[in-house]
Amino acid sequence: MMNKVSRTWRRAAWAMVLICLPFLSFTVSAAWEELSEEELERILVEKFEAGNYSAKGADNCLMCHRRSDTVMALFSGVHGRTANPASPMAAGQLQCEACHGPMGNHNRGGKEPMITFGPDSRVSASAQNSVCLSCHSGDDRLAWHGSTHDIEEVACASCHNVHAEHDPSRDKRLAMENCTDCHRQQLAQMHQRSAHPMRSGQITCVDCHNPHGSLNEAMLTQISVNDNCYVCHAEKRGPVLWEHAPVVDNCANCHNPHGSVNEAMLTQRAPQLCQSCHASPHSGTPLFNSGDSAFTAGQSCLNCHNQVHGSNHPSGKLLQR
Ligand code: HEC
Ligand code: HEC
Ligand code: HEC
Ligand code: HEC
Ligand code: HEC
Ligand code: HEC
Ligand code: HEC
Ligand code: HEC
Ligand code: HEC
Ligand code: HEC
Repeated sequence: MMNKVSRTWRRAAWAMVLICLPFLSFTVSAAWEELSEEELERILVEKFEAGNYSAKGADNCLMCHRRSDTVMALFSGVHGRTANPASPMAAGQLQCEACHGPMGNHNRGGKEPMITFGPDSRVSASAQNSVCLSCHSGDDRLAWHGSTHDIEEVACASCHNVHAEHDPSRDKRLAMENCTDCHRQQLAQMHQRSAHPMRSGQITCVDCHNPHGSLNEAMLTQISVNDNCYVCHAEKRGPVLWEHAPVVDNCANCHNPHGSVNEAMLTQRAPQLCQSCHASPHSGTPLFNSGDSAFTAGQSCLNCHNQVHGSNHPSGKLLQR
């Protein structure tokens, strides 16, 4: 009799444990949080090599993960569109495991890690990115390897969101907010007195930069700073009869394209700007450099040398006409 009661109790207790198990495992933090980053990555690499993919694809994962709104949002974005045969979720594709890697023994109570993405992930950015690049290495990302963002370990998922209806990169302003989350100096500059119309979103960072890297300086979209500016300021391209050497060399000698406290985004105001190169113009005649004279006041040097970008006038050698 005693025996029977305790057996019933034991059965009931087991049943309770079994019922609660999935809930327990969801509230308990993931077992792999204890692992060092090296250990975690080693396990993930081993799992990839073993290639133990789930036979049921996404259905298997969703048994445990469908309660997360984040997870389910995948199906409203491009990666969840089964109609596109190249989509990871299409029939015959690896589905969730195309990105998160083979399931292995992860379904045994979530004890084995899966690859996670984004700024909070403990998997190195280059390992995360290799997953995305397995489908996206073409076209626009040919220069990703060796780019500053690659070297600085910026993850694709720091800018992109795949479990979402709309990727932030689709919206120019959202994309720019994303850039300025990390680039605080440019954020400050674009709010200064004179700046490209970035605050309104008319021009954004990606009009000049390729966030995936380029073969050019500062990940610019064009081969040089000047070529970048000519895309929109074609009238400055020339050729002109009388060139001003620093203009031909680099517009950024005088302008900060992100913005400045000085008008026309000048890095300094005249006459200091001019004098940073022309230490003592007019053969150093004091008249020309003294305090408030006609030469340094107001528009300063530009009062006379007003064709600072170069002149087409036959006698414009001194950039005065
Ligand atoms: C038997 C239940 C179960 C199954 C099946 C399962 N998971 Fe998990 N998964 C968990 C648990 C438990 C955790 C750890 C707690 C958490 O973070 O939700 C977890 C964590 C994760 C994480 C890490 C989340 C984070 O924020 O750290 C990812 C990614 C993940 N699972 C993906 C998958 C994928 C992809 C599949 C299918 C191939 C899958 N899971 C199948 C239970 C499961
Ligand atoms: C195209 C690659 C890709 C596919 C396919 C994919 N994921 Fe993810 N998953 C990510 C990325 C990237 C993140 C980080 C969050 C983000 O960027 O949206 C993530 C985050 C997660 C998380 C953590 C979410 C949280 O709550 O913070 C879980 C769990 C997860 N994915 C499970 C799944 C499951 C289950 C599937 C299949 C239904 C799946 N993923 C399909 C790339 C993918
Ligand atoms: C199995 C292949 C595959 C993998 C892995 C993959 N993608 Fe994609 N991705 C696609 C396909 C297919 C599209 C849709 C392309 C199209 O419609 O032209 C796409 C589209 C995109 C887009 C454009 C989004 C839009 O709204 O148009 C972005 C951004 C993107 N992927 C980022 C990522 C990131 C980040 C990862 C890694 C976390 C990743 N992808 C992993 C196949 C993949
Ligand atoms: C610094 C932020 C940033 C990072 C990091 C980044 N992207 Fe992008 N990505 C963008 C922006 C912004 C766009 C939109 C570009 C545009 O409008 O010209 C974009 C567009 C895309 C597109 C859609 C357009 C196309 O070229 O097909 C894909 C796919 C994509 N990125 C994949 C990736 C992958 C894969 C990685 C990692 C190797 C990555 N991105 C890293 C910001 C980023
Ligand atoms: C997760 C942080 C992060 C995000 C988001 C990010 N960047 Fe960066 N970026 C960096 C780091 C780190 C560097 C290297 C240090 C520096 O130059 O500030 C860098 C460097 C750069 C450089 C200089 C490249 C060079 O070779 O000199 C440019 C240009 C740039 N980022 C543009 C962008 C644009 C455009 C976006 C948005 C589409 C963006 N970044 C988003 C972290 C980020
Ligand atoms: C009108 C074109 C243009 C726009 C718009 C632009 N940049 Fe730049 N950016 C440049 C040029 C040109 C350089 C190189 C400057 C140099 O050589 O001195 C540069 C350089 C950089 C650098 C390298 C560090 C530095 O200052 O030299 C970073 C980081 C950067 N830009 C980020 C951004 C971010 C973030 C945005 C958007 C908020 C942005 N840029 C918008 C043209 C632009
Ligand atoms: C994508 C187009 C685009 C590119 C590329 C571009 N600009 Fe501009 N720029 C504009 C627009 C639009 C304005 C604002 C014109 C207006 O308000 O009338 C502007 C205005 C300016 C002004 C005048 C600002 C003022 O306050 O009067 C300067 C100086 C300037 N740009 C320099 C540059 C330089 C230097 C580069 C290259 C690094 C560059 N721009 C690249 C579109 C561009
Ligand atoms: C030697 C310094 C210097 C260099 C280099 C320079 N600028 Fe300027 N820029 C100025 C000054 C000073 C002004 C304001 C006075 C004026 O309006 O001419 C100005 C004004 C501008 C303006 C607004 C007024 C206008 O003329 O449309 C634009 C746009 C501009 N620069 C573009 C460029 C571009 C593009 C380059 C490179 C091809 C460049 N600048 C190189 C000094 C320079
Ligand atoms: C980055 C350096 C630099 C800056 C800034 C600069 N210049 Fe120049 N400037 C030069 C160089 C180099 C020459 C060519 C000198 C030569 O050929 O002997 C030149 C030539 C000139 C000439 C023609 C002189 C001649 O003998 O042909 C004038 C006038 C002139 N600059 C005025 C200005 C004014 C005004 C400013 C300020 C708006 C200015 N410069 C800013 C470097 C600069
Ligand atoms: C009132 C008109 C006027 C103003 C203001 C002026 N200049 Fe001149 N500048 C001239 C004239 C005229 C010449 C040619 C005669 C000469 O060489 O003295 C000249 C010649 C030059 C030359 C070429 C010859 C040389 O001496 O190097 C440079 C460079 C120059 N100016 C730079 C500047 C700078 C920089 C400023 C501002 C600090 C400035 N100028 C202000 C009228 C002016």
